Amino acid sequence: MAATSLNAPNAPLLQKTHQTHVFLKPISTIPCQTSAKRFSISCSATTQDRLSVQSQSQDRVFNFAAGPATLPENVLLKAQSELYNWHGSGMSVMEMSHRGKDFRSIIEKAEADLRSLLNIPENYAVLFLQGGATTQFAAVPLNLCAPGDSVDYLVTGSWGDKAFKEAKKYCNPKVIWSGKSENYVRVPSFDGLELNPNAKYLHICANETIYGVEFKDYPVPRNPNGVLVADMSSNFCSKPVDVTKFGLIYAGAQKNVGPSGVCIVIVRKDLLGNAQESTPVMLDYKIHADNNSLYNTPPCYGIYMCGLVFEDLLKQGGLEEVEKKNQKKAGILYNAIDESKGFYRCPVEKSVRSLMNVPFTLEKSELGAEFLKEAEKEKMVQLKGHRSVGGMRASIYNAMPLAGVEKLVAFMKDFQAKHA
Ligand SMILES: Cc1ncc(COP(=O)(O)O)c(C=O)c1O
Repeated sequence: MAATSLNAPNAPLLQKTHQTHVFLKPISTIPCQTSAKRFSISCSATTQDRLSVQSQSQDRVFNFAAGPATLPENVLLKAQSELYNWHGSGMSVMEMSHRGKDFRSIIEKAEADLRSLLNIPENYAVLFLQGGATTQFAAVPLNLCAPGDSVDYLVTGSWGDKAFKEAKKYCNPKVIWSGKSENYVRVPSFDGLELNPNAKYLHICANETIYGVEFKDYPVPRNPNGVLVADMSSNFCSKPVDVTKFGLIYAGAQKNVGPSGVCIVIVRKDLLGNAQESTPVMLDYKIHADNNSLYNTPPCYGIYMCGLVFEDLLKQGGLEEVEKKNQKKAGILYNAIDESKGFYRCPVEKSVRSLMNVPFTLEKSELGAEFLKEAEKEKMVQLKGHRSVGGMRASIYNAMPLAGVEKLVAFMKDFQAKHA
């Protein structure tokens, strides 16, 4: 039997369908006529025919995946409505020339909106690249230092560790602190760090997706000419960030701002132009900056989707408002864990717990499979912790509605009541 018995104390919450949304019927259900003469398709449905009010929860789940992750429903619906014929262009964004004026307007707006969201100054370039954050693990050292140069890595999880290992191929990196022996549960105090006074950069992973450890403030490189570099893949655009503290920020889009296939790099312009000679053209930030991310065919549709997400974040009131929502969601989930008297446990130090990825274990670990199965019956999916950590992990990125977190908390309480 599902954990949501009607008598369970949280049954009303679990059963509550969340917000009602305007739902666009799939285009294929709209009656269309073809005109053989002009080889065009015209859809006769009026807007009103096409709009029907349905509850989203009927066919969508709450997806707690770490990435690719849930996207805002209104963004998906807007993309759906524009898919077939973007703004009267007669084609979808996927079919457009990346050099044509339509796509240019899309990428320029995406960049402008991201600049307003993060208050990115003019002396920083914004690049829309491919190859994921993993490619940046190599591109960062290739662009920022010569082969023998020293660089520092502060490792608070396995993504930072992977970045360090990749950098070894291109320069002389040193791990100045690693949380590995403690299973990555904290960020060290910056005072005691043995930073190299000659390091070209100091690399951090601002939010370790697997372990749920998030920097709440940032260390300053000891070298006055060195820069701070951050992998922000899993907390990008989740809160305001002072970009000027960083020489370079990179983020794979597929957690908070779009589909996989796009990686965003924000880099101070004076750092460009010194790539190692062997740097592949596709990894040279200057080439991409000089060509406005259009040196080759970019991931056009992914960039378009990121643009819709940026527009949506601005409509929500910008990143201050987004952060408040994220704090609220994370707060109720961490409270539920901490108040469970040990039934659930989050191993991460409270001061650096991630607002985006909430890992937790069950005291009775043998109940894990049942927890996941029952959660799935309630349309809450992808709660399994990363294979290297075990337990559970709820990724609650910007697009996870409060209703999703409330439903998860209600479920957890009922599950505990049943099994304590
Ligand atoms: C913090 C962080 N860095 C890097 C990566 C690797 O990203 P990609 O798969 O886009 O290369 C991930 C992916 O999950 C991540 O969470």
